[in-house]
Amino acid sequence: MRLVLLGAPGAGKGTQAALLKERYGLAHVSTGDIFRENLKNSTPLGLEAKKYMDAGQLVPDETVMKMVGAKLAELENENSKGFMLDGFPRTVAQAEFLESKTKIDGVILFSVDDEAIVKRLSSRAVCKDCGNVTTRLEHDKCPYCGGELYTREDDNETTVRSRLKVFHEQTEPLVKFYRDRNLLLEVDASQKPEKVFADVVELLDHDKN
Ligand code: AP5
Ligand code: MG
Repeated sequence: MRLVLLGAPGAGKGTQAALLKERYGLAHVSTGDIFRENLKNSTPLGLEAKKYMDAGQLVPDETVMKMVGAKLAELENENSKGFMLDGFPRTVAQAEFLESKTKIDGVILFSVDDEAIVKRLSSRAVCKDCGNVTTRLEHDKCPYCGGELYTREDDNETTVRSRLKVFHEQTEPLVKFYRDRNLLLEVDASQKPEKVFADVVELLDHDKN
């Protein structure tokens, strides 16, 4: 199964990807995580991406497409159950690039309104060790591995609002793009994570039959 997880910043793509990975054994490819990993290792790619990420802007298409192209080639060689692309594509140019490289089985759209997202991201915490996301309101250590939690640099309100603006302007056109191709599966992501997951599973299992 080859999926795209589509949704605004903070819609819950990473949270649902962790659950889907467990259930379906899919590889999880998050372009944001790849950039953050590169930044941690101070690679030229990480340092270039940081300029855009800190401003809540998109990294230029050519850079992202080169990186994802290499990742897709790796995935093609693995004998796996498939993959989920989390945070890619984010522009029509990226979606056209993806279409030229591989066949996607479904695109899950996670919908949540902007104000709920601003609130969610103000308490998001990420584990330094395993990278899983959680919320500070419920945990002070990682609930998965006990690791230390940190706050992402782009989770301040000003940057979150720029990310939302960019999402509406540049990424939302992909809803039509994928609807036109009959690939869009829509989920109400304002519900509790377990309910969102149950809805996704129902859609995917129904889609398969
Ligand atoms: P990226 O890392 O992909 O960030 P994003 O899309 O902004 O999405 P987030 O990771 O912030 O949110 P999420 O949907 O994964 O939500 P999460 O599950 O964590 O990208 C970062 C940057 O990299 C971009 O801004 C851009 O600069 C660059 N970039 C990346 N890809 C690019 C591309 N293709 N092209 C160009 N540039 C690119 O959940 C959020 C919080 O909510 C957590 O605290 C979680 O515990 C909580 N939560 C989750 N689900 C629920 C729920 N149902 N109810 C209540 N709380 C919930
Ligand atoms: Mg994420």
